[in-house]
Amino acid sequence: MKGIVQDRYGSADVLQLRDLADPVFGEDEVLVRVRAAGCGPDVWHLMTGLPYFVRLMPAFHKMRAGVRGRDVSGIVEAIGPNATGLSVGDEVMGIVEGSFAELAVGRPDKLVRKPTRLSFEQAAAVPISGLTALRAIRDVAKVQPGQKVLVLGAGGGVGTLAVQIARAFGAEVTGVCSGSKADLVRSLGAHDVIDYREPRGWKASVGRDRRHRRKATRPCAQASAHAEQHPRDRRWGRRRQGDGWFLPPDAPRARAITAHPPAAPPGDGEGDTGGPPDPR
Ligand SMILES: NC(=O)c1ccc[n+]([C@@H]2O[C@H](COP(=O)([O-])OP(=O)(O)OC[C@H]3O[C@@H](n4cnc5c(N)ncnc54)[C@H](OP(=O)(O)O)[C@@H]3O)[C@@H](O)[C@H]2O)c1
Repeated sequence: MKGIVQDRYGSADVLQLRDLADPVFGEDEVLVRVRAAGCGPDVWHLMTGLPYFVRLMPAFHKMRAGVRGRDVSGIVEAIGPNATGLSVGDEVMGIVEGSFAELAVGRPDKLVRKPTRLSFEQAAAVPISGLTALRAIRDVAKVQPGQKVLVLGAGGGVGTLAVQIARAFGAEVTGVCSGSKADLVRSLGAHDVIDYREPRGWKASVGRDRRHRRKATRPCAQASAHAEQHPRDRRWGRRRQGDGWFLPPDAPRARAITAHPPAAPPGDGEGDTGGPPDPR
């Protein structure tokens, strides 16, 4: 089979497509023919070997030696005699070790049947980010209907899913993202959106409600747990504060983009909305 591996740490150039032996699956494992693979921060950490301390971890070394990628969707090709819950031919999605390959080995408890309404590509984008968001919202924050939830990085892999899950739990959701993603985040169900790049308005929007800030940020703590390690975050000089609240020290306030943009001025013809709404 073909698969993507690496011999050294570095940028994406270190990843190489090579001919590899087909993986051997155990008695309680299944062999998946990969149709699509997701690419999340796990791939970046293994590829770059950053932050440096992770290189000291034996488990990290073991994973690095194999094929990259963990998020997967595909079709069960073969099944071990002790593997239960799945059958050959099932369309599945979930987590394996080495999804950037034609074949991957997985455990049945880390794979589920793919909903038919999802394409393979859509399904492969969900598993790790989706579980991270689900655990943060449901298990850690235990979000209840009517609560206010603030999702930092709402335009990212975890954040886009966290917004939708929090909304599905009946919360009032505020998403923090760059302005260019405001429409996306709003379309996912956020009631309000804050542009973290704007140096005004944090206090006006959320900072004045300390109780809201404390409770609302907790769901983001898990998803943001590694945020400080990202080069972009180091540039911003972000630091972790008591309850998982990440902010650049010099930007305690940002402008809130209204959830309901003011009505556009009347246009002069059918289909003419008079231009894009003013996000302020
Ligand atoms: N994905 C996973 O499965 C997973 C699992 C466990 C932990 N994590 C960790 O969770 C974090 C998020 O992961 P991800 O996959 O969602 O990453 P991502 O797709 O790169 O998204 C990160 C988001 O953070 C936003 N951001 C950057 N600076 C910000 C600031 N100052 N304030 C608010 N938002 C800011 C960016 O927003 P803009 O693009 O709008 O600028 C970006 O969309 C990462 O640190 C990751 O290591 C991820």
